[in-house]
Amino acid sequence: MPESDQVVLDIQDLKKYFPIKRGFLSSLHVGAQRRMKFIKAVDGVSLSVKRGEILGLAGESGSGKTTTGKLVVHLLEASAGRILFNGKEVLNLKGNQLKEFRRQVQMIFQDPYTSQNSRFTVFKWIQEPLLIHALGDPEWQRAQVIKTLEIAGLKPATQYLDTFPHELSGGQRQRLAIARALVLEPQCLVADEPTSMLDVSLRAGLIKLIRTLTVDHGLATIYISHDLSLMRYTCDRVAIMYLGKIMELGPTERILKHPKHPYSRALISAVPIPNPLIRRKRVRLTGEPTLSHELIPGCRFQPRCPERLKRCEMDPPVLEEFEPGHQVACWNA
Ligand SMILES: Nc1ncnc2c1ncn2[C@@H]1O[C@H](COP(=O)(O)OP(=O)(O)OP(=O)(O)O)[C@@H](O)[C@H]1O
Ligand SMILES: [Mg+2]
Repeated sequence: MPESDQVVLDIQDLKKYFPIKRGFLSSLHVGAQRRMKFIKAVDGVSLSVKRGEILGLAGESGSGKTTTGKLVVHLLEASAGRILFNGKEVLNLKGNQLKEFRRQVQMIFQDPYTSQNSRFTVFKWIQEPLLIHALGDPEWQRAQVIKTLEIAGLKPATQYLDTFPHELSGGQRQRLAIARALVLEPQCLVADEPTSMLDVSLRAGLIKLIRTLTVDHGLATIYISHDLSLMRYTCDRVAIMYLGKIMELGPTERILKHPKHPYSRALISAVPIPNPLIRRKRVRLTGEPTLSHELIPGCRFQPRCPERLKRCEMDPPVLEEFEPGHQVACWNA
């Protein structure tokens, strides 16, 4: 077990480029291989997560949040970069070491409806990861399943063991997904929009659960969401992504109150303020993120940026520390 305050996950210059599919005929052209185009879904992301900390990943659709999460849990192979887990490189792991790493990092997906096997009872569904990893005997496994269901808020667990996931409500199914991730007692959790399919009334309970689990079990958690208003109460720090790059990263309160990047300002201006006496000027973004961003030489937000400088059109800004723990990638910050 890592010490508290220890960095569990350290991602350095991580990249994932997806080749853009071409028609059969165009792929026969001489030099087609050389001219192959890529979607730079994740393009040089560096961040770290400490034990007991929740780091939020925010940004519009297509900014590379899910791809980053999948790279962390090895559901996708990185094109370049490093991932250190408790100080050890994990991108080249194979065999038993890879299996052990997979036990230690778990991902919860947005939609529990498609990810749950309808032929399994709740008991079998939560026991399955223990069987895959050959952990404990049947008696220990049963106790572990019951303990984990209760931690995930499905109490009393014995009442759920013989039911089927499709008999549960949406909120209960999302708790079941959390239990399946937790039963292996991981050190790191990636939660990808875990509440977006749920009624607003159920969201607060689930967010609180993820917060409690992270603190009580010393998890290093990445919480992915478009919704910055949810992050205020959930995340210790937030990274704001745009087209595969981190534009700003820092303590949640700091970023929500004093965003430095024009993109963060635009996203945050849409977040409601809890105090009705305070009004904030809304920054409206025009256009959409462009997929041909690899053709843009400078900052990839520049075509939509209300504050762009001449330099932004040519020079890609680098993520730099603006004040301790607060990084921004903007020439105009
Ligand atoms: N398997 C894939 N093959 C090709 N392109 C992909 C693949 N997965 C993702 N992409 C592309 O990579 C980019 C980033 O996608 P990603 O799903 O990571 O974004 P996101 O930030 O999670 O978006 P959302 O908020 O909609 O979930 C998008 O342009 C997407 O189309
Ligand atoms: Mg996503």
